[in-house]
Amino acid sequence: MVRWRKYIIGICSIVAVGLVGVSCFLFWPHGLPEVEASTAQLAGPELLTRGEYLTVAADCAACHTTKGGKPFAGGLAFKLPFGTIYSPNITPDANAGIGNWSDSEFVRAMRSGVGKHGEDLYPAFPYTSYALLSTDDILAIKAYLTTVVPVAEPAPANELAFPFNQRPLMRGWKLLFLPREQFEPDTGKDKIWNEGAYLVEALAHCGECHTPRGLMFQRKQGVALSGGDVNGWKAWNITSDKDHGLGNWSDEQIAQMLSAGHAKDHGVAAGPMREAIDLSLSKLPKSDIDAIVAYLRTVPAVSGDPDLKSVRRNDEELTARSTEVSSNTRSGKQIYAGACASCHGWNGEGQFNQRAAIVGGHALSDPTASNVVRVVLQGSSDHEAAPGKTMPAFAKIYTDEDVAALANFVVEHFSGRKGTVTPEQVSEAR
Ligand code: HEC
Ligand code: HEC
Ligand code: HEC
Repeated sequence: MVRWRKYIIGICSIVAVGLVGVSCFLFWPHGLPEVEASTAQLAGPELLTRGEYLTVAADCAACHTTKGGKPFAGGLAFKLPFGTIYSPNITPDANAGIGNWSDSEFVRAMRSGVGKHGEDLYPAFPYTSYALLSTDDILAIKAYLTTVVPVAEPAPANELAFPFNQRPLMRGWKLLFLPREQFEPDTGKDKIWNEGAYLVEALAHCGECHTPRGLMFQRKQGVALSGGDVNGWKAWNITSDKDHGLGNWSDEQIAQMLSAGHAKDHGVAAGPMREAIDLSLSKLPKSDIDAIVAYLRTVPAVSGDPDLKSVRRNDEELTARSTEVSSNTRSGKQIYAGACASCHGWNGEGQFNQRAAIVGGHALSDPTASNVVRVVLQGSSDHEAAPGKTMPAFAKIYTDEDVAALANFVVEHFSGRKGTVTPEQVSEAR
């Protein structure tokens, strides 16, 4: 009930702001300003190498390539409360892709969320982060994209209900929430910190997932990076808070998590984070990872719901709990013994595989077990590519009741907290 009320208020606000936006139409800079690279811009093969690096760091492929699909051909579905939109084809095909876009049109799309014909784009395309990129970098990305294999098939058309299919409604939203300036280095900070800030805020757009959103889907920048939601997965607090965020992680542990997807005593990354690591972060040079760490260290601490504090690894308590569980998670324990312990062990250390060392992970101390439920249903995002090393999907094997009992057992066993997952929540997560 409360959730519905929230949706309705949110939807009404978007429409109201949209209408204001439409009436501000004349004031919104929808023209096509000429753009030109600076004199420092690279040329030839160096420009393409830079463009490829930027395209990887910005993880364009995460949204514009479907699993098993052709690179950058689009077609990935984004399910929103009021319909579905599909990422477009951004290969250099002249009709289906962006082959005949001018530099100015491409820069306008990345910086102002405006399509070739002046239409407003939805912020599922994270242009509120990309708006901070420099013109040279945007043009380098375009130069690289013109070298990928053109694909002649257009992406499917969006399916949005009225009034959300009215793109001009986005104008009011942008007026409120779109940054107007590019990233400006902070001269009070060193070069590494500034490189990290550019990566976190602009290129690698960490805040698109890790910053909480308000009723109008806007990122709440006042509490930036304090934890968000991506398709039901919790993207944890990565501020410098000691209990909720990364305050008690070492630099080394953060770097391991970002480049390999697991960190000693802090578990693993699954779901959307694992994808960001596989497609993007694991391919960045160590200097970039170090820069990200340097910047994250200075993100102001934000705390939050005490239930979302991560519980530190405590092996003694864990051993004690291995023999006792409360009655309503007993069936979960049986499933764990049969289907999970072979990879994860009772101590969560991971048998034969570092990637399965889940002990100490934030997901395991969340009473709502959002990520545990999802990893059990979906398995590892790259399971097909590396079946022996990764987690299979259990969605078809277990009922909603089984998954709820299992998730509650995992939370109770590894953190000592009481899991609160219901079969209804598992059904919603499917
Ligand atoms: C989080 C997902 C996501 C990421 C990451 C992403 N995009 Fe997109 N992009 C989208 C979606 C969704 C749309 C369609 C928006 C709409 O229909 O209003 C889109 C639209 C676009 C468009 C407009 C195309 C057209 O035909 O109108 C361009 C250009 C584009 N993206 C380029 C990029 C580039 C370049 C990158 C990497 C720097 C990138 N995108 C990263 C989701 C994403
Ligand atoms: C596409 C969404 C997405 C993007 C982009 C993303 N993350 Fe994540 N991140 C997540 C999710 C979801 C999790 C939780 C994974 C889990 O519990 O298995 C996570 C987990 C993490 C963790 C582990 C935190 C903990 O308490 O265990 C760190 C650290 C992290 N992300 C840092 C970053 C940084 C830094 C960036 C940008 C360079 C980034 N993430 C970009 C979604 C994202
Ligand atoms: C074949 C080995 C394998 C089996 C079997 C397996 N897992 Fe996993 N599991 C992994 C790997 C590898 C990861 C690391 C995440 C990834 O690859 O996306 C993981 C991650 C996890 C996580 C961490 C999720 C997060 O967001 O931090 C949990 C919890 C988990 N598994 C629970 C289970 C449960 C419960 C079962 C039994 C139903 C199970 N696993 C079976 C290999 C396995």
